[in-house]
Amino acid sequence: MNDFTLFLGKFLRHGTKIASIAPSSPALSRLSVSGIDWDTVEGLVELGAGTGPITQAIAERARPDCLVIAIERDPDFCARLRRRFANQPHIRIVEGDVRDLEAILNHHGMNRVRHVISGLPVPSFPRDLRRDLFAAVGRILEPDGTYHQITELPWVYRGLYRRYFNEVRFVFEPRNLPPAGAYFCRGLKTQPGE
Ligand SMILES: C[S@@+](CC[C@H](N)C(=O)[O-])C[C@H]1O[C@@H](n2cnc3c(N)ncnc32)[C@H](O)[C@@H]1O
Repeated sequence: MNDFTLFLGKFLRHGTKIASIAPSSPALSRLSVSGIDWDTVEGLVELGAGTGPITQAIAERARPDCLVIAIERDPDFCARLRRRFANQPHIRIVEGDVRDLEAILNHHGMNRVRHVISGLPVPSFPRDLRRDLFAAVGRILEPDGTYHQITELPWVYRGLYRRYFNEVRFVFEPRNLPPAGAYFCRGLKTQPGE
């Protein structure tokens, strides 16, 4: 079964928990990892890796000594990710929930990262999970680090991310089905307004 068919089937069964009918396009995946200094970055985290289009964009750029933790909750997606990145030991696929973000990182010997790349359906999360997620991101992200978030509803959720971050920049990417984009966020607020 190809990635699209697997993904669409999951969407039809689980709806907002998957939140998209298709994996991100190569163009959206490239955009989501833009602005990273690949010469110096030592580790990063991907949340909600799905079938791995963003993981692939990361794998093409990350040096072999840059530890990449890709977290995904769905076991079928994880099996596919493990097969796909089996020959790249610095790309660690973790089947788990982002609720356990800190514990997962600690288990892999990581404390802080400079970048978090997220494909999570954050707007459809219950509010308490969103708060927990960004509280955990605040504890693992370096103070000047960035949180990158893809979206399929361009611009719509800027306000949501502004409640959590001081700086939110949006970049549109029409080469995706549907047209999409990414938020680039910096400066987590200590007291979010949500
Ligand atoms: C919109 S898809 C994005 C998939 C992939 N990153 C892409 O760009 O094609 C969202 C992914 O987040 C995963 N996900 C949703 N909630 C999660 C959670 N609490 N913990 C870990 N993964 C989660 C879903 O299983 C799904 O694979």
